[in-house]
Order: sequence, then structure tokens, then C-alpha cells
Amino acid sequence: MKIENYVRDIQGFPKEGILFKDITPLLNDPDARKKCLSILVESLKGQKIDKVVGAESRGFFFGMLLAQELNAGFVPVRKPKKLPYDTISASYELEYGTDTLEMHKDAIQKGDRVLIHDDVLATGGTAKAVCDLVTELGGEIVQCNFLMELSFLNGREKLKDNPIFAAITY
Ligand code: PRP
Ligand code: MG
Repeated sequence: MKIENYVRDIQGFPKEGILFKDITPLLNDPDARKKCLSILVESLKGQKIDKVVGAESRGFFFGMLLAQELNAGFVPVRKPKKLPYDTISASYELEYGTDTLEMHKDAIQKGDRVLIHDDVLATGGTAKAVCDLVTELGGEIVQCNFLMELSFLNGREKLKDNPIFAAITY
């Protein structure tokens, strides 16, 4: 089975000129999901993970599956004003303007070994902001992993020395 076959191209979403990679067929098939999860887990080569940090919202799907499989905690990074307790925040640049992500300030302990997960690595702004949040709390980033990397957008460059893995590369 090829997990690539469970990612659907949608031309012109969310706006004209964009080819959207739709993962809902992958989410909707338990065997494809299992295969994708095992590819992500195997990339870690048995390294111990204390916390999986997932970025709202599409990073929550496999982020939680990874946390369960790795017997790790799960930490949601959310869009502003969604988290109820004290937060830290990090901003990142969009095509026009900036956006912000937040995490609970007690979600990670100093020295925690952290896996960061999101569905797509595009320009890298989102993942970089998540890395900044984890680092601010003293977490050690073991890997940033993604279902897909849009390599032509060079998002890797923003993530510098952090190990990066993508199950599918376009
Ligand atoms: C999308 C995608 C990644 C991010 C990748 O999320 O799910 O999180 O963009 O882009 P980047 O590498 O250029 O930052 P989006 O902000 O659209 O929100 P969603 O996950 O809630 O759909
Ligand atoms: Mg997202």
C-alpha cells in the first residue's frame, strides 16, 4: 500500500492557483492510517519521546496517534485565545502579516524529549513557531515530523539544525 494514494489533489482550494493536498482520504482509511503511523514511528528508530507537540488543527490527527503509540504525553499548540491556562506564544510570518500560536506554559518540562508533528511542512513558519515554543520551555527537539513536505517551498531552511522527517515529499 502506498500512503501517497490516500492524499487527494484539490485544484483551486482554498483559492485559485493553489493545489491543495487533502489528507481526509488517509484519515478515513484505518489501514492507510496504520501504515502512515508506522512510517512516522519507524523514522524515530526507537528514540525515547516524552512529549508529542501537535499544531492546531491538522497536526492534532496524527499527533495524538503518535503520542499514544509512543506512550508519550500530547501537547496541543493552539491558535490565539483557545487555551484556558497560562500560555506562552510565538509569532510567525504569513504572506501578508503575522500569525501567533500558543502553548500552555506547564506543558513541557526542562529536558523533555519532544517530537513536533504537523501534517504539512510548507514555508516552515508554523513549525518554526512550534520549535520556538518548545525551546522556550527547555524542551529538547528530537525530531520535527510531517505527513508531507512541500520541498519546493524550502521550509526546512527555517528549521535549521532540527532533524526533519516527512512521510511523503512533493
Ligand atoms: C497549514 C498546515 C500546516 C501549515 C503549513 O495549517 O496544516 O500547519 O499550514 O504551512 P507553513 O509551513 O507555511 O507554516 P493552517 O494554518 O492552514 O491551519 P489548519 O491546520 O488549522 O488547517
Ligand atoms: Mg495546520
